[in-house]
Amino acid sequence: MIFDFCIPTLFGIESVVSGELRRLGASDVGGETGRVRFRGDEYMLAKANLWSRCGERVLLILSSFDAATFDELFDGVYNIPWEEYIPRTGEFPVSGYSRQSALTSVPTCQSIIKKAVSKRLGDRYRISRLPETGSTYQIRFSIVKDKAEIYFDTSGEALHKRGYRAKANEAPLRETLAAAMVDFARFRGNREGDSLLDPFCGSGTIVIEAALKAANMAPGLRRTFDAEKWEFIDKSVWRSVRDEAVSLIRHTKAPMLGSDIDEKTVTLAYSNAKKAGVDHLVKFSVADAMELSSFKTTVVTNPPYGMRISDGDEAEELYKSIASKLTDESELYILSGHPAFERVFGRRADRKRKLYNGMIPCGLFYYYRK
Ligand SMILES: C[S@@+](CC[C@H](N)C(=O)[O-])C[C@H]1O[C@@H](n2cnc3c(N)ncnc32)[C@H](O)[C@@H]1O
Repeated sequence: MIFDFCIPTLFGIESVVSGELRRLGASDVGGETGRVRFRGDEYMLAKANLWSRCGERVLLILSSFDAATFDELFDGVYNIPWEEYIPRTGEFPVSGYSRQSALTSVPTCQSIIKKAVSKRLGDRYRISRLPETGSTYQIRFSIVKDKAEIYFDTSGEALHKRGYRAKANEAPLRETLAAAMVDFARFRGNREGDSLLDPFCGSGTIVIEAALKAANMAPGLRRTFDAEKWEFIDKSVWRSVRDEAVSLIRHTKAPMLGSDIDEKTVTLAYSNAKKAGVDHLVKFSVADAMELSSFKTTVVTNPPYGMRISDGDEAEELYKSIASKLTDESELYILSGHPAFERVFGRRADRKRKLYNGMIPCGLFYYYRK
């Protein structure tokens, strides 16, 4: 069966997710602000979940219709053949959002959708009360400019939750953003001379994501997805996509290094790398970035932001120190929310990109080899 899908993304990394999906063999891939649409079968559903390093979740689009009134919303939802997807016992929570639309109350939209699905399933299964004791079929909706779109969330937990970062340090970078930074840095880890350093590694996210990529390990291999329990997707699909992912893991010798001034954080980075299955590929150490020698590698990092005024001077000192370590053998990709980053750093970036780290608008500044 061919489905339409959509993957919400962090702002600024839509092109990376589009590239991932094309490489996976998806068709009709198209990026919009904050999301990427594509088409594919149930294998593509499983592959997108298992392999997308930068997407947030894989939504299966069930229907799209005009909904300026609650009646239109109810009818549009009731018309979806829910019984083809949700079994008699399936649980179907509903969540979503509404923007620039006549239907402004999200809780009311949520309860209308819940009622419409319950009515349809109740009519088809000839029961008045659905037990909802079985697997979860999370329904999501968006209503934008009076157009409703109804989805199944095939992922369950968001894709950035790979399962390796149980405990978080103070300012961890989202895994999907770290993976996108590694992609922007064109680090693959399988070419002669490839190496990567994060001198402010914190919990190790950038280095771990680089290692997963270098070893061609699917980032979702160590977690499960809601759609693995769905009856309308054959279990053999997931089995074959998982088996293939295991067979595609490759050997890599690229040095992938992280260091941080905080010893506890470095211990955490190691334990995260172990959970991710890449501890044999990475090296973390305790070091003050100001005291490191000149860089001779690809540096991908997000130093402290200095958002609080008292932190500002220290962050600026760090930026200047990093600038002084660049050589003609190094390349730097640095994420910063500092409003005058390039001035403080003392050099205009060769290229920059607008990104968001959570709610914080940032820039990823590229400094190529001199
Ligand atoms: C924004 S956090 C990095 C978060 C990291 N990307 C992660 O995913 O967990 C900045 C890190 O810089 C470290 N740091 C601050 N000053 C430092 C210095 N002088 N040398 C090395 N690390 C430093 C902090 O301990 C903190 O872990």
